[in-house]
Amino acid sequence: MPDVPGYTGRVKLQSAYEAADARVALERGDILFFPDGGFEIPREVRTALTGATQDTRAIHKNIAYKPNIDRVSGLVDRAEAETIRKAMREYSRLALAFMARILPAYARTWKIDYASFRSIEERGRELPLTKRNDLLHVDAFPTRPVFGDLILRCFTNVNPEQSREWMTSEPFAKLAALEAKNAGIEEYAKTADSSVRKLRRSAMRALSKAGLPVVDRSPYDAFMLHFHDWLKGNEAYQRDCPKYRFELPPGSTWLVFTDVAPHAVLGGRLALEQTVIVSRNTLENPACAPSAILERIAGRSLIE
Ligand code: SIN
Ligand code: FE
Repeated sequence: MPDVPGYTGRVKLQSAYEAADARVALERGDILFFPDGGFEIPREVRTALTGATQDTRAIHKNIAYKPNIDRVSGLVDRAEAETIRKAMREYSRLALAFMARILPAYARTWKIDYASFRSIEERGRELPLTKRNDLLHVDAFPTRPVFGDLILRCFTNVNPEQSREWMTSEPFAKLAALEAKNAGIEEYAKTADSSVRKLRRSAMRALSKAGLPVVDRSPYDAFMLHFHDWLKGNEAYQRDCPKYRFELPPGSTWLVFTDVAPHAVLGGRLALEQTVIVSRNTLENPACAPSAILERIAGRSLIE
């Protein structure tokens, strides 16, 4: 990605107030940082969230809020769920308005995804390998394929005292150049347009129509899901790749394409987050999309 202004081959914490162009900074893999939080979160919202007791028995890794149906998951207590739902609805609304103000070109076609509340201390958290947050990875959603579009997330640290500690590595362009072939991109590319795949897709569509919870993914989505797990399980990558650590202080907000910037969280609790799916064709530099980078490496379309 030599032609993108400001591209350094590392993930930087880029102060939003000094960025020449927010889209360019995000697309090259930088974290767009608002030390003052960028937007006001009412006190009631913050206090409602500091007492949340997440259901640790549940399969949920975080407390999730789905803006389209106005529901939360991941909480035990009904009364508490109601309080949290209201607080997260408010955060979701404010974060989306803020993001749309900063990134109007994306907002015209983005798809609003879930919000989440990360209430559990990340340091020392015990999770199965592929769910661990402290290992570097790029994001991919098992249940919501993106078909080549990008995952943009807005995080706010609502902890009044403690910073959230992040680690990042080299952005997707560099990561993919080094590792996509080792991770098997050529095998995934072969499945694109194959007759087996066409049969599989029509079967999936039929099952989905019949109400079964199957997910119809593009070869790109399938590779990204695999790559997420492959990176977490790759000891050499985790040990040897360049690492950049950041402290995100209380009250700060940061925006990042979590499929462009490999990331891990090492410590902190009480963060809020809103996700949107940004269309690849609304990027200032569409060639920066992970799907475009992989298509160049594979020499073919991975979306269909
Ligand atoms: C992640 O997306 O991997 C976790 C980020 C965070 O919770 O700070
Ligand atoms: Fe992640």
